[in-house]
Parts: sequence; C-alpha cells; structure tokens
Amino acid sequence: MEKVFISRRIPNKGIETLKNAGLEVKVWGSAIPPTYEELLDKTAQADALICMLSDKIDSHFLRKNTHLKVISNYAVGFNNIDIQTATDLGIPVGNTPDVLTEATADHAFTLMLAVARKILDSNKSILEGKWKNWEPMGFLGQDLRERTLGVVGMGRIGQEMARLCQSAFDMKILYFSNTAKPETEKKLHAKKVSFDELLEQSDVISVHTSLNESSRGIFNKEAFQKMKKNAIFINTARGEIHDEIALTEALSNGLIWGAGLDVTNPEPMSIDNPLLSLPNVVITPHIASATIDTRANMSFIAAQNIIKGLKKEKLVGFVNP
Ligand code: DGY
Repeated sequence: MEKVFISRRIPNKGIETLKNAGLEVKVWGSAIPPTYEELLDKTAQADALICMLSDKIDSHFLRKNTHLKVISNYAVGFNNIDIQTATDLGIPVGNTPDVLTEATADHAFTLMLAVARKILDSNKSILEGKWKNWEPMGFLGQDLRERTLGVVGMGRIGQEMARLCQSAFDMKILYFSNTAKPETEKKLHAKKVSFDELLEQSDVISVHTSLNESSRGIFNKEAFQKMKKNAIFINTARGEIHDEIALTEALSNGLIWGAGLDVTNPEPMSIDNPLLSLPNVVITPHIASATIDTRANMSFIAAQNIIKGLKKEKLVGFVNP
C-alpha cells in the first residue's frame, strides 16, 4: 500500500479521497507544525507528501527524499518549494488553483472595506469603553464609489477582486502585470499600466501576484512614496512582496491612508510588531482561503494531485516548468 504523509490536519474530504483510492494516510497529529527535521523524518517513510505553504521544501529536503513520487502543496502559491530541484529530481509538484479564487478575492475586498471604513479601530474604541457620544467627526472613512483600483498581478484572484470592486463600486480598474489580459481589459474596461502609473493613480492597490524574484520587495520605500495620500494598500498574496519597515513608516507618517494585510513578513508576525499598534491597519493571520467549502475543496484537489502523481498522470495543478 502506498503511503501519503500530510503535514497538518486538513478537511476529511481530501483524506477520504485518498483512502478511497486505496492509499495509507498518515497525518501530523499536533496543532503545532512539524519542524523541518520532523517533516524530513516523516517524509522518509512516505511515497507522497501533502505539505503546507509554511513548510520549507528546499533543495536539501528534496535531495533527502528522492524516493517521493509526488508533492502536493495545500495552497495555490508554491514559493515554499524549490521547484527547480524537484523538477531536476523528477518529482512532480502540484498546487490547488481555482478553488480558492473567490474566497481570496472576497477577503481582499473585505480588508479594503474594513480599512476604508475604520472597522477595527472603531470597534476597538467600543471595547476600550470610549463610545460616549455619537461623533459627527469621528471615524470618518473613505468612499470607494468610482475610485481607482490598481491590481498587481492580474491572474485569477486579481481578476475576481477587480470584478468585485467594479460591480460593487463601479471602480475604475488599472493593472500591472507581465502579460496583457485582453479579455479582462474588455470585460472590466481595465487598463494595463506601468508600475509607477499604478502607484501614482490608484486609490486602492491590491496585490495578487505570486512571490518571485521580480515581485519580492517591489513595495519598498520608493513605491510607498509614489502612492496617493489616500491610498489603501491590500496584500493577500505574500508578505515578502512588501518591505514591512517601509510600509510601517508610510502608514505612521501619513504617506498612505491605510493597509489591509492577510500576509506579513515573517509569518507568524511577532506580537511586538509596530504594525499591530497602528490604527490604520487591519491584519488577519493568512486566512484568505479559510472558508469551510474552500478548504474542503483544496483538500480534494490536493488529494487528486497525489492520486494522479502516484499513477504518473498529469496533476490537476501542475507547477513544474
Ligand atoms: C495560497 O493558497 O497560496 C494562499 O496564500 C492561501 O490563502
């Protein structure tokens, strides 16, 4: 019987799919993730691995586990895996695309509204016993109607965020991407612009690009300086895409209006991180895909990748070049 190791507990839908395919499934039992060494040890006894975006699957890990017949990342992003080494070793790697598009875009949209309308800061004032009167000048937020959304990375999730913003608020859509998206341009009247134009013209900037060498740290001090004073920065992609010190300075010094982050650098962030004490920031702990249905569907795709990989068939989400 071929063995699959799963590095955290995932929804039953995926586990049952694997068992019904006649596979032996072992799941890391603790709520605390396995260390690198613990994962190496467990993977040594498996034919296939389902890992999390927080598991580091680097060259050393892969070279110690050349017996692996397939790896399935329980995420759409796969920057935690050394794909080149996996490819060189002939190990197919899969991800879980499509099923988390809506949930992730919904979360970006939620963060945008929460920042624009000061939801967290105003709620905090109630919890601190500061709600004494109706305030004509308190917690004034921003209108989003007919404002400009700048999308960085116009893939599936970026397109869905653009669609939501346009249908809810009739927002004008700009995007920065390596590839033109003529269909999206037609459907959403979206306009492809340079990175600088996007920074200078957008009222909301939402990041949906993958983490790679050209996107790492792209939101740095210079980028925040070019943004509008009323700009809202949203990142639901990867924390390494923004420079966190530069972002903290931009938010503290009023260079930009606010930020909504589902990803930080590092993760988890420290409780002492100065971002947490800023009133104009809403941060969630990398939960954009965390809906009951989405996570169940992710577990199903992750399981399908394993089943297909063990049969030497093409994975559902196949990420090797
Ligand atoms: C992913 O799947 O890469 C996302 O970051 C999950 O929210």
